[in-house]
Amino acid sequence: KKRIIIAIDGPAASGKSTTARKVAEKLGYTYIDTGAMYRAVTFKALREGVLEGLRRSPGSVSGLLDTISIEFRGDRVILDGSDVTAEIRDNRVSREVSFISSLKPVRDRLRRMQQDLGRQRAVVMDGRDIGTVVFPDAELKIFLVADARERAKRRYAELLLKSPEGAELPDLDLLEDEIKQRDEEDTLREHAPLKKHPDAVEIDTSDLTIESQVERVYTLALAAG
Ligand code: C5P
Repeated sequence: KKRIIIAIDGPAASGKSTTARKVAEKLGYTYIDTGAMYRAVTFKALREGVLEGLRRSPGSVSGLLDTISIEFRGDRVILDGSDVTAEIRDNRVSREVSFISSLKPVRDRLRRMQQDLGRQRAVVMDGRDIGTVVFPDAELKIFLVADARERAKRRYAELLLKSPEGAELPDLDLLEDEIKQRDEEDTLREHAPLKKHPDAVEIDTSDLTIESQVERVYTLALAAG
């Protein structure tokens, strides 16, 4: 069977990573979460205390990129040699990531890393611009969408699962606002905005179970290969 590239794009919390991971597993492909890479750069900016400086002079982001190393080890994300898998899911990172990913030098750098990863092996890659910019020739392009309230509920359930007992959780309205805000920034930005490629198959996951999302994409992958 031919090895293909599967590009899965869509707004925040639309089910991309869960679907992509499971489809990759079924096909024996490597799953690559490109959002994790943008989050890692954002975490590095916060850790080094340069985020405010970058807002004033975005050009200085090249300093941050000069020394960066981002690797995937299984499902762990390794930034400059340390495991940051948990840290990059922090709400602080979620709030700042759209700014960092709007910067052209950041996008240029990560796009090249992503293209190298896709050349080395068969991948399922998820993000915002995989079908439009990173792999416009991907044999299968999927665009996942879901109702904003439903996405907020999923994010809430996710937070509930991983938060320590008794931890305070943001309420649903706030989560929904944050998700919408991030989508707006990702859609309106100048470089590689979130957009459906004309050839992408759009799937609305609002009323689908994870199993049926996976099944649909898997079936399309078999037909595309
Ligand atoms: O996928 P996730 O929600 O973790 O992505 C976090 C952020 O990274 C997005 O809101 C977007 O700003 C950025 N991103 C991007 N291009 C991608 C993947 C993610 O700009 N291919």
